[in-house]
Amino acid sequence: MKYFPALLALLFFSGCHLFHRVPNSPPAVERVIRSQFPEGKDEFNRTPESYEARAAHGMISSEGVPATNIALEVLKAGGNAVDAAVALSFAIGVYRPHSTGIGGGGFLVVYDERSSKAEVLDMRERAPARATRDMYLDKSGEVTEKSRWGGLAVATPGLVAGLWEAFQKRGSGKVSWKQLVLPSAKLARDGFAVDPDLAEAIRWTSDKGLLERFPSAKKLLAPNGKPLQLGDIYKNPNLAKTLETIAENGKDGFYKGWVAKDILAAVKKDGGILEQRDLDSYALRYREPVKAEFGEYTILSMPPPSSGGVHIVEMLNMAEDLIRDTDFESVANWHLKAEIMRRAFADRSKYLGDPSFFKVPVAGLTSEEYARHLAKSIDRARASKSVEVEPGQPAPYEKVHTTHFSIVDNNGLAVASTQTINYLFGAVLVAEESGIFLNDEMDDFSAKPGAPNLFGLVGGEANAIAPGKTPLSSMSPTIVTKAGKIYLVLGSPGGSKIITSVWNVLFNVLHHKLSLRDAVFAPRMHHQWLPDKLVAEPGWEGATLQGLREKGHDVEELKGFALGSVTAVEVEANGGKVGVADPRRGGAAAGY
Ligand code: DON
Repeated sequence: MKYFPALLALLFFSGCHLFHRVPNSPPAVERVIRSQFPEGKDEFNRTPESYEARAAHGMISSEGVPATNIALEVLKAGGNAVDAAVALSFAIGVYRPHSTGIGGGGFLVVYDERSSKAEVLDMRERAPARATRDMYLDKSGEVTEKSRWGGLAVATPGLVAGLWEAFQKRGSGKVSWKQLVLPSAKLARDGFAVDPDLAEAIRWTSDKGLLERFPSAKKLLAPNGKPLQLGDIYKNPNLAKTLETIAENGKDGFYKGWVAKDILAAVKKDGGILEQRDLDSYALRYREPVKAEFGEYTILSMPPPSSGGVHIVEMLNMAEDLIRDTDFESVANWHLKAEIMRRAFADRSKYLGDPSFFKVPVAGLTSEEYARHLAKSIDRARASKSVEVEPGQPAPYEKVHTTHFSIVDNNGLAVASTQTINYLFGAVLVAEESGIFLNDEMDDFSAKPGAPNLFGLVGGEANAIAPGKTPLSSMSPTIVTKAGKIYLVLGSPGGSKIITSVWNVLFNVLHHKLSLRDAVFAPRMHHQWLPDKLVAEPGWEGATLQGLREKGHDVEELKGFALGSVTAVEVEANGGKVGVADPRRGGAAAGY
């Protein structure tokens, strides 16, 4: 028996599935695999198997192969999950310039098994000091596009401050800051081949005329005048210099000196209001995680200024009360889920905002009693109608940005982090000397009560603009524990669809008992109250969708798999780690 542990490790390394639960995949998952992987490969040239990894010690799941590999090296060098998260954040910001980066912000949830404590770091952008409530309205009170693209859309970035803090406070001390930042400088300088997701983002931005409008972005995304295509090499040497400065000077490398000057100049030139005092006064915040019990599991998720955790818990509570059925594809099941999502998003529009400015009734929204009360209003036979609103921008369901990664190390530390510059390439404004894509996070505020934002989300007083205020987010980094031990780490990009994507996958694992791979691969549905539509990915049986229509749901069938992109890690009872990346965006899980 002396060699048993070594044997176990060997089995994991060799990819042996000895300890894997192998339940039959639901037919919906088989359908997804057939359509996403014709002839065995997807558009990223990957097989279904390549999205899953198993290992004995540490595991990482992120939305990019180079980023996962950079973080894996950190774990192997003795760094902990937080060190790996720092390295991964810098790397994924280089690799997914359309999704995230140091010009933006995010949330980081850490759980330490040894102390059974969770910590939530809010490193999200804040409204600049000169922001005003009606700054995006024109003279006649109509909402303009200034919260979406260009200088005025930019909120004070928080990512570098957050990563610096996480490293100082929670890093292992076994790896240096430089070790965590410099691999990303190299990635930015050497460049990498544009993948289908980045190619599509560049195409969309170019078609929209945004490259012509922002020459600083055009220089990077269409360096020879023609937008980069699949397989072309994307490089950002100026960002490499910026990262080297940050490697040298820590967070001051971003918030002071030439990089700060460059950011402010770019914003000012394009009509923005960000100033040095905003960078100087940027304050991180620690938040109390939203916590709930679901059977034998404890859910720890992102509290306000995100709406994610609150509504995930609210929806789990309603589901616990209502859904007994375990058939993954039944009409009854999805009818109830649609009604549950509708109610959660109705609450979101009214009650959610930055808790420093607005009292968010977290305890009420997450209480089981409240969920039971809401559940009573659900008719098992018929769909309810969301209230009528004047037509807004149709929610752009066709693509997702932002990024999420999940990490579990060998010492009981887990990190779930979702990060963003908001919409595709953020404000599309690049601070030229420093190569930084700046965020358009100001669009997450409610520019005017009832007016939908880029994700079709509406809000009011709770999420009105004010100086220093944090725009309401949907980002939902989540950790599930079982008897104090890490069980599941997950999250997703996707704007409003983040909340429902995380909830879909959580429910698939906790209630439908799907394997993590099937839970992530399975088609999803989304409802956000307004617009009053049940959005379904391909892969559902016709009879399920027909049954939902008969109950009165306005079902919109998407052409592609566009509801979120979940990257997750599960810890099995024997301590083995399973990582799954979402084939929706070609992510990568890897462990050691
Ligand atoms: O914080 C939020 O909720 C948004 N800024 C996230 C944006 C996002 O996920 C973009 N993807 N579609």
